[in-house]
Amino acid sequence: MSEKSEILHAAEILRHGELVAFPTETVYGLGADATNAAAIRKIFAAKGRPATNPLIVHVAEASIARRYAAVWPDAAQRLAERFWPGPLTLVLPKHPSIVREATAGLDTVGLRCPDHPLALALLRQFDGPIAAPSANRSTRVSPTTAQHVRDEMGPDLFILDGGPCPVGIESTVLDLVSERPRILRPGAISAQQIAELIGDIEESSAGGDPSRAAMSPGQQPLHYAPRAKAYRFDPSDLPAVLRWCELHSGEPTAVIFVGTSDNATLAGLPNVRVIRLPQDPAEYARRLYATLRELDARGIRAIWIEMPPALPQWHAVRDRLLRATAGNH
Ligand code: TXA
Ligand code: MG
Repeated sequence: MSEKSEILHAAEILRHGELVAFPTETVYGLGADATNAAAIRKIFAAKGRPATNPLIVHVAEASIARRYAAVWPDAAQRLAERFWPGPLTLVLPKHPSIVREATAGLDTVGLRCPDHPLALALLRQFDGPIAAPSANRSTRVSPTTAQHVRDEMGPDLFILDGGPCPVGIESTVLDLVSERPRILRPGAISAQQIAELIGDIEESSAGGDPSRAAMSPGQQPLHYAPRAKAYRFDPSDLPAVLRWCELHSGEPTAVIFVGTSDNATLAGLPNVRVIRLPQDPAEYARRLYATLRELDARGIRAIWIEMPPALPQWHAVRDRLLRATAGNH
């Protein structure tokens, strides 16, 4: 099929109330017509997602987003003009045409215009809002390639293949409903970039704040987990990781470092794979989920992950690492 006919086909599937997967700049989404309750229920069923976790509604441009928000404040307009299409989701009071199933009964909706040519072509062709969570089973790592989606969802789902996602971790979610705008999930668009445009905002703590889980139910700490047991360590704890690996020498283990920092003794141990992810936060983010999946596929049972420095540019990555390792420390 040509790309054009794939887009036509995908839009047709959505019109029939069925699901399609499509690439965005962040991760692959599992899409359904946001105005069709039965279609939305299929997303929750396919993901095994709790009915209390709201979906993000994708649109082709800001002028369309306005139709699905009951209120469109000046801050939303400025943010959309600056960052859309792009990895920023704006939570606003919802318009009744978005079905309650999509927002898990909340009277707010997360709206986002994705920066990916295939996603935008699909949105234009479908000519309506597409509700789409990440195209993984609930609590698993988000997919960043079409093959990841197939591995998660099976062969029957129609997938638009746009190659690997350039950002690699999910969008920044910004709540514009509360009096003081607040970040519910950190992502590639930073708190600083947002604050520069709209002034004072409330930042999120990396790794999920339990008090915020009620506000944004997808934000429970245990999320984005690989199948292997994932542990985190600070660079100064490397000797303890080495001892652990020596004690568990029967267990296929991977140790993921930031940049080139590593340890020759560790690399020499049987059953230990040493992985180096890029020192640049954006490149690290692009590779992270694919790396975790690859290690799962290779039968790795334990993954030790070096924490990048607690600096603003690492905030979103640290958030995902804290979640992936929640419970294992
Ligand atoms: O980058 C992304 O955002 C990807 C791509 C596919 O767009 N989507 C994604 O969707 O990550 P999902 O469902 O995996 O995560 C959506 C997050 C959840 O944490 C959810 O709780 C939050 O957005 N969210 C959605 N609607 C919300 C609302 N009305 N109020 C508060 N949080 C909301
Ligand atoms: Mg998700």
